[in-house]
Amino acid sequence: MNVKILNYGSLNIDYVYKVSHFVKPGETLASASLETFSGGKGANQSTALARAGANVSHGGKVGKDGLFLKEKLQKDNANATHIQESSSTNGHACIQVDEKGQNAIILFPGSNKEITKEEIDNALKDFNKGDYLLLQNEINLVEYLIEEGHKRDLIVCLNPAPMGKEVLSYPLHLVDCLIVNETEAKALAHKKDYKEALDALEKLYPKTELILTIGDEGVLYRYNGQKISVAAHQVTVVDTTGAGDTFIGYYLAAKIEGQDAQKCLEFATKASALCVSKQGAQESIPTKDEVLKI
Ligand code: RIB
Repeated sequence: MNVKILNYGSLNIDYVYKVSHFVKPGETLASASLETFSGGKGANQSTALARAGANVSHGGKVGKDGLFLKEKLQKDNANATHIQESSSTNGHACIQVDEKGQNAIILFPGSNKEITKEEIDNALKDFNKGDYLLLQNEINLVEYLIEEGHKRDLIVCLNPAPMGKEVLSYPLHLVDCLIVNETEAKALAHKKDYKEALDALEKLYPKTELILTIGDEGVLYRYNGQKISVAAHQVTVVDTTGAGDTFIGYYLAAKIEGQDAQKCLEFATKASALCVSKQGAQESIPTKDEVLKI
């Protein structure tokens, strides 16, 4: 069976500023450089899925200045049939990257938040029971997508990033696979500690596959009584942008291939380690061959 994945998500233009430290309130800071990359959590995750060999279609909306983002996904062999075009401004991200490779991001949603129910319904028609629906939180109508995906027996995967209070009102009990970082886990579970948050999420959503990424410490997994922890690969960090997206794309691609959870987590951990060793979002997502070599 050829399982397909529809990733309905953002496509952003990323403006990356190299800075000595993140700008403070009232401070004006000159950056050492400015580079422009293609990004967006949605498009990054589609790129990772495609480079990992999955049959991925991207759904979303680009603005008048973002047509190249659609073309880039097509070059990576992602299906772009369900990427609509709008006459307004594309979503973009202003990303500060400090000397440790950490980032701080300001997001302008633009065309990412102009998606209509009609466009979603039209895209969903191409997917059947057992196919995957992947979502993040940079577009509008996420709640509708979760409900419609579940109604159609798709395997609904949610990465609630960036986390906002609206996520608390999403029908999270309909999500089959929830992929969160520490901040998202703590906010969803109303806990101060990520381990307590994971325990709480397991109780709240007993039927959901839970994946908690903990940066350079690695990843924790809970599903159906199974508990796995995988350590991160130690690499020199250049830029962490897109590491989580790379992890998610590679994890799901391996899962769709039929690998067990441990193998999927190890594969995804290697891929995100390669991603943080380079600058940029999509530019730094490795190919499957590169991941297989480490
Ligand atoms: O996850 C990284 C992404 O977050 C960047 O590419 C940027 O566009 C923001 O959406």
